[in-house]
Amino acid sequence: MKIITSINEMQQLSLSLKREGKRVAFVPTMGFLHEGHTSLLREGRRRGDILVLSIFVNPIQFGANEDLDRYPRNLDGDCTIARECGVDLVFTPTAGEMYPPGFQTSIRVRELALPLCGASRPGHFDGVATVVTKLFNIVQPDVALFGNKDFQQLAVIRRMIADLALPVEIIGLPIVREADGLAMSSRNAYLSPDERRSALCLSRAIHIVRERYAAGERRANVLRDEALKLIAAEPAATIDYLELRDAATLEPATDASDTTLMALAVKIGTTRLIDNTLMCDER
Ligand code: PAJ
Repeated sequence: MKIITSINEMQQLSLSLKREGKRVAFVPTMGFLHEGHTSLLREGRRRGDILVLSIFVNPIQFGANEDLDRYPRNLDGDCTIARECGVDLVFTPTAGEMYPPGFQTSIRVRELALPLCGASRPGHFDGVATVVTKLFNIVQPDVALFGNKDFQQLAVIRRMIADLALPVEIIGLPIVREADGLAMSSRNAYLSPDERRSALCLSRAIHIVRERYAAGERRANVLRDEALKLIAAEPAATIDYLELRDAATLEPATDASDTTLMALAVKIGTTRLIDNTLMCDER
């Protein structure tokens, strides 16, 4: 496994591998890898001749008061995991390499980036779209893998691929959870043992809504109220948003159907966690 920090080296290597007819699979991450990431890497291993992992904590997708400075990092641990998953190339540039002085070009995403996480994190999805485009230009992937954990992010990326005709196949994979239901996240490392218990309210809210939906309830406001009630009963939790929306357009839903998304962001202490489900999901 080779570790590359230079944009030029990564790009030249990818271009020459592709000239040899190799299919490049790519998993972009911000590191501190967990089983959510490794599920993407294992699928990437199956889909490509060359598997590239990027580890880059992207400053332009963090707001001024967010956790950029304390975002967890562990390059050595990540490399051990990457090797186990059969990664060929780890691309881990510095922020100075990605955003040298004078950098001033970005991708702007409109409607899809406005609700949900976009409402509480203005500029976030522009930062994601910009870095993903730049990473795609550097890594030149044939296929890139993303998790449904960040549902809106995946929707934004699929939209961008279509809008800008980027020649990359996008694969979305299911949310990987801890045994007790908590969606895996690098940010779970911030949680104290008490907060870790409180954090279960997110997956419980999803569970109760799915149960009510399976039992025939279709009124979105009734489903939403069930979830809100459950989270309100958890003293350590503050709701950022909890909404039912159409999974394709992210427009608000009044009647739930199989393709309705419930997405939520909840602060547990100072840690902001997200989770989501489709009403038809089998997870
Ligand atoms: P990061 O949060 O490190 O996530 C990298 C990828 O792993 C994303 O596609 C995310 O959806 C997926 N992932 C995270 N937790 C998951 C889980 N529990 N189950 C399944 N997949 C999971 O998302 C980012 O980084 C960044 O925004 C990035 C796309 C790299 C751009 O900077």
